Amino acid sequence: MAFESKIKTIEWHGEVSRMIDQTILPKEFKLVDVKTTDEMYSAIKNMIVRGAPAIGIAGAHGVSLAAIELSKQISDKKKFLEALREKADYLKSSRPTAVNLYWAVEKQMKLAGSIKGTISEIVSALKENGVKLENEDIEINKKMGDYGAEAVPKGAAILTHCNAGALATVGYGTALGVIRSAYAKDSTIKVFADETRPRQQGARLTTWELAQDGIPVTLITDGMCSYFMSKGMINMVVTGADRIAANGDTANKIGTYTVAIAAKYHNIPFYIAAPLSTIDISIKSGSEIPIEERNHEEVTHINGDWICSKDVNIINPSFDVTPNELITGIITEKGILRPDYTKSIKKAFNI
Ligand code: MRU
Repeated sequence: MAFESKIKTIEWHGEVSRMIDQTILPKEFKLVDVKTTDEMYSAIKNMIVRGAPAIGIAGAHGVSLAAIELSKQISDKKKFLEALREKADYLKSSRPTAVNLYWAVEKQMKLAGSIKGTISEIVSALKENGVKLENEDIEINKKMGDYGAEAVPKGAAILTHCNAGALATVGYGTALGVIRSAYAKDSTIKVFADETRPRQQGARLTTWELAQDGIPVTLITDGMCSYFMSKGMINMVVTGADRIAANGDTANKIGTYTVAIAAKYHNIPFYIAAPLSTIDISIKSGSEIPIEERNHEEVTHINGDWICSKDVNIINPSFDVTPNELITGIITEKGILRPDYTKSIKKAFNI
């Protein structure tokens, strides 16, 4: 039985992309209508929409918005497609790490190039495909949830980092999808959510999202995970991913690597839950994954106030790479991939 999540994070609505503004949750629940390519670029960059699969859908909607705009300015199909390519590349440059953004934008561009009909037919096909990708995202998450739930021990306390939930996808979630499916079968499981500095996706989004569904969650700060592991209070870790290399090395929110090391030390299974669209088979290992460096104010400020000396040096990588040897399994819509990941990933892609 699948557990229904009430949250729809992003959805095509008439001629606009409608999304939950994740910068102001949990203080305020607000839907935002994104109407232009520029607005979509900023929505992704400023994290109104965030989480790898959700920004993939945002990218797909962004191409539809770009096509609508250009169809009002250009009548020659070749010029239209050239201009669409420029806007697609611009959208892809909004955030560099999550490969789902590239994947979804390129899916739309391939479709646009394949339409034999008019510009207006291209626009309609792109809008329709954006909606199809939304629906597929939820279906894939539910499949992952079912596979992942099998790996959850009875009554487990599951630690998760960042937000890999309904809010990071169209709905249901990847890591939190596994938790939703496990909870539907066993309501004694519980969740520990890492706060996830500096943007606090764990504190702000994961706790809010799980509370909507009545799933018990305990919030801890990022430095606390080893302590709770050493006390035997955590039985499993499940996180999402932004990009997985062909050897299984996985980029996810900064701090994930630390959690994986702590889990290994305490003999706790560490799982990644991610759709195949997060796996980038074009790169051999994690060292090739581009890591986004974000605004230093995310570190120096909390709620607009300085929290440190103004002379301090800042480095703010948004993601880190967990080496494949720390990962117990990668939960996908095709089942749980196990080491050797180079082999199991190839098999999942039928190559
Ligand atoms: O910077 P964010 O909030 O977009 O980072 C999100 C994460 O790191 C998630 O864990 C990842 O995208 C997987 S979401 C299903």
